[in-house]
Amino acid sequence: MHHFWRTCAALLATVASAPANGASEVKNVAIIGAGAAGSSAAYHLQQYAEDEGLSINITIFEKTERIGGRTLTLQAFDDPSQPIELGASIFVEINQILFNASQEFNLPTGDPHEQETGAVTAIWNGKKFVFETSEGSSWWWDVAQMFWKYGLAPYKAVKLVKSVVGKFLLMYDAPHFPFQSLTEKAFELGLLDITGVTGEQFLAQNNIDPRFGRDILQAATRVNYASNLAFIHGLETMVSFATDGAIAVQGGNWQIFDKMVSASGALLYRNTSVASISAVQKKTETSSPKYVIATRDGLVESSSHEEYGIAFDNVIVASPWQFSHISAGEGVLQHAIDEIPYTKLHVTLFASPLKLSARFFGLFPGSKAPSSVYTTLAEGDEPKLGADGVGSTGFYAVSTLGTVVNPRTGKREYAYKIFSAEPVTSGFLSKLLGTDIPASFISTKTEEGGEAAVEPISWYRPHWFYSYPMLLPRVTFQDPIIGDGLYYTSGIESFISTMETSALMGKNVARLIADDFAGISRTDTKEASDEEGIREQGPGEL
Ligand SMILES: Cc1cc2nc3c(=O)[nH]c(=O)nc-3n(C[C@H](O)[C@H](O)[C@H](O)COP(=O)(O)OP(=O)(O)OC[C@H]3O[C@@H](n4cnc5c(N)ncnc54)[C@H](O)[C@@H]3O)c2cc1C
Ligand SMILES: *[C@@H]1O[C@H](CO)[C@@H](O)[C@H](O)[C@H]1NC(C)=O
Ligand SMILES: *[C@@H]1O[C@H](CO)[C@@H](O)[C@H](O)[C@H]1NC(C)=O
Ligand SMILES: *[C@@H]1O[C@H](CO)[C@@H](O)[C@H](O)[C@H]1NC(C)=O
Repeated sequence: MHHFWRTCAALLATVASAPANGASEVKNVAIIGAGAAGSSAAYHLQQYAEDEGLSINITIFEKTERIGGRTLTLQAFDDPSQPIELGASIFVEINQILFNASQEFNLPTGDPHEQETGAVTAIWNGKKFVFETSEGSSWWWDVAQMFWKYGLAPYKAVKLVKSVVGKFLLMYDAPHFPFQSLTEKAFELGLLDITGVTGEQFLAQNNIDPRFGRDILQAATRVNYASNLAFIHGLETMVSFATDGAIAVQGGNWQIFDKMVSASGALLYRNTSVASISAVQKKTETSSPKYVIATRDGLVESSSHEEYGIAFDNVIVASPWQFSHISAGEGVLQHAIDEIPYTKLHVTLFASPLKLSARFFGLFPGSKAPSSVYTTLAEGDEPKLGADGVGSTGFYAVSTLGTVVNPRTGKREYAYKIFSAEPVTSGFLSKLLGTDIPASFISTKTEEGGEAAVEPISWYRPHWFYSYPMLLPRVTFQDPIIGDGLYYTSGIESFISTMETSALMGKNVARLIADDFAGISRTDTKEASDEEGIREQGPGEL
C-alpha cells in the first residue's frame, strides 16, 4: 500500500515537471462532432503529431450514429446499391483537402449528375425560362452561348471568380497557414472587401451586367445557398459560381470523412452527445487548463449526463455552437460565440417514372420540359431575405439526379431532388409531375404488392436542415480560438460554407494545436509588425 502511494506521488511529480515543449507527454484532445471539420481535424492532427514526434491521443464524440454530419447519403428504396446524396453533394478539384483525400483513400469520384443525352437544364423565373443548356454539369460556364445575350458579362464573371478563388487559395499555405484569426487573415488577403458587400454590389463594382447577375448568377446562389444576390455576400456569390467540373465520391461524399477518422486512429464514440465542457484545472505558470466533458446518449435528450473519465488538454468544438447544445462551465469560453442566423432548407428526394410536366412551366402541352430547373426572380419579384425571397417560382431548384431502379417493378425511374423554403405539398407535386398525387402518398407504405401498376411517386424522403448560415455581408468572423486550448471550427461557415472550408478550418485548428504542443511559433509579416507580445515568441521557426 505504502509503496503504491509513493509510486503515485512520483508519477504526479513527473507530470508536474514534464518538459514544457510537450514532446514526451501524451496530450489528450477531444473533438466534438465528426462532420467535415471534426474528421479533418482528427486526420490532420494525427499527421502533424507524427511529423513532429508528438504523442497525441484523440477522442471523438459524435451525437449521431454516422460520420459526416451535413454530408450524408440516403439509399433509394433503402437499397444500398442506389445511394443518393441528401446533404452536401458536390466539390471541385481545387478543393485540395477533399480531392487529395479522395485520391489518397482510393475513393472513386465522378460526375454527380450524370444526365441522359439531350437532357436540358434551364433557369426559370416563374414566368419564363431565361436560360437553357444541354451542356451537363459545366453549364454555368457555357459562356459562348450567352455572349449574344449578356455581352462580356459572363467572361468578366469567370475572370472575377478566378481572381477571388486565387486569393482564397492562399489560405492553404505558409505564410498564411495556419491562421489564428479568420477575420485578420481575410483582411490581409483582401477578402473582407468582398464579404462586406452583397453579391449584387460586388458585381456592380466590377461592372458586370445586372441582367447576367439576376438571370444566371442568382440561379447559382439560390441553388447553392437558397439566397438571392441582394442577401448573400460577394465571396459566397463567387463560390456559388465556381462549380465548374463538379465531382462527387461514388457511393457518398461522407466516405472521405469516414476514412479520415479511421486513418486518424482516434477513438470514436457514436451516439454520444457532449452536454458540457468544464475546466478542472486552472492555468498556472507551469500548467495549462484541462477540460472535463460530460456526455449523454445522442438521441435521448433527457437522459442523464455522464462525466467522461479523462481530462483533455484541448477541445475542438466542430459543430455550430448554437445547434450543439453544449453548456460551457465558468471560465471555459474566453470569447462568447455569436449566434448566427441559419437558413432552414427543405430537401426532398423522390423517385418517379414521370418526367417534369411541360405545362407546369407554361410550355405547350406535349413539348419537352427541362430535366433540371434552377430558378431566379422574375422582373416584378421583390428580392427578400431567406424563405420570403423565393419569389414566383415557389422553390429554389428541382434536379433530376439520374435514374434508379424501382425494385417493385424492376423498371428505371427518375430520381429527383427539390430544394425549397417550405415543405413540398402534394398539390405542388401534382402540378410539377402533371398528374394527381394524393395527399396520402407520404404515408408509409409497407406492403409489397397490391399497388397500382405505376405509382407516380415510388419512393419519397422529405428532410430539412439548418443547412448553412444566411450569408449576409459581414467583416468579422468567429475566430478559431475560443479559449485556452479550446478551438472552434464553425466560424468559417459565415465566410464560406462548404465541406472543403470546414475541412480547412479543421486542418487549421489541428496545426495550431500541433504548433502549441511542439512549441513552434510562427510569425508572418502582418503579425510581426504587431506591437507587443500578443503571442509568446517560442523557440521554433524564425
Ligand atoms: C442540403 C445541403 C446541401 C449542401 N451542399 C453542399 C455542396 O454541394 N458542397 C459543399 O461543399 N457543401 C455543401 N453543403 C454545406 C456542407 O454540408 C457544410 O458546410 C459542411 O458539411 C459542414 O461541416 P461541419 O463539419 O462544419 O459541420 P456538420 O456537418 O454539421 O458536422 C457537425 C457534427 O457535429 C455533431 N454534433 C453536433 N452537436 C454535437 C454534440 N453536442 N456532441 C457531439 N456531436 C455533436 C453533429 O451530429 C454532426 O455530425 C450543403 C449543406 C446542406 C445542408
Ligand atoms: C487515450 O484516450 C482514451 C479514450 O479517451 C483513454 O481511455 C486513454 O486513457 C487515453 N490514453 C492516454 C495515454 O492518455
Ligand atoms: C494536394 O495534392 C497536390 C498534388 O500532389 C499538392 O500540390 C497539394 O499541396 C496538396 N494539397 C493539400 C492541401 O494537401
Ligand atoms: C446508435 O443508436 C441507434 C439507434 O438507437 C442504434 O440502432 C445503434 O446500434 C447505435 N449505435 C452504436 C454504435 O451505439
